[in-house]
Amino acid sequence: AAPRKARIDRILFSQEAIARKVRELAERIRHDYGTAGRAAPGPVLEGAAGGHGGLPTLTVVGILKGAFVFTADLVRALGEQGVPLQVDFMAVSSYGSATQTSGIIRILKDLDRPIRGQHVLLIEDIVDTGLTLRYLREHLLAQDPASLRACVLLDKPERRVVDVPVEYVGFTIPDEFVVGYGIDYAEQFRYLPYIACVRLED
Ligand code: PRP
Ligand code: MN
Ligand code: MG
Repeated sequence: AAPRKARIDRILFSQEAIARKVRELAERIRHDYGTAGRAAPGPVLEGAAGGHGGLPTLTVVGILKGAFVFTADLVRALGEQGVPLQVDFMAVSSYGSATQTSGIIRILKDLDRPIRGQHVLLIEDIVDTGLTLRYLREHLLAQDPASLRACVLLDKPERRVVDVPVEYVGFTIPDEFVVGYGIDYAEQFRYLPYIACVRLED
């Protein structure tokens, strides 16, 4: 069946509010990785590849397609904070309808480079049922990184089906359809610079 028509109902987070949150997340990440060598728990600095100013080099893994805008903004904010990093991407998609995740995750594109021994920061736009993030965490942990943390812009805890740790959350939101800033409804609305709620027409 064709997806139902959707229209923007109201803006949830403006471009400015998102930009402030991205900067705040980058500062928290900078702080946590910068102090990790002194205060446990946190990523272990000993043996970390590269790094300068006491910071390990992060391998940022953006999850396409939804996280492409957030990843682009967050890596630039981390760069401004002096966090050394490299960027890789995975593309995954869950089988299922436009608005329902099935729990079956397809890897459309895997990492380009091995992450063994690296400090990996996984970037997602949203955690909903948690099935995608849980799958990705297991997939990445199996490759023996030095550490793994997840940074997610939006968290919708009411929809959670599986427990999954999320170290960095931008905004916690109620159970509403959101689009924009990379997030789609049936492949629409990804280009919006803000995050909005959509209303489905019958
Ligand atoms: C969306 C979103 C997350 C995932 C969250 O991706 O970008 O990756 O669903 O849902 P979950 O917590 O219920 O698993 P989607 O599968 O729609 O692919 P896309 O990123 O290409 O839009
Ligand atoms: Mn996604
Ligand atoms: Mg999607």
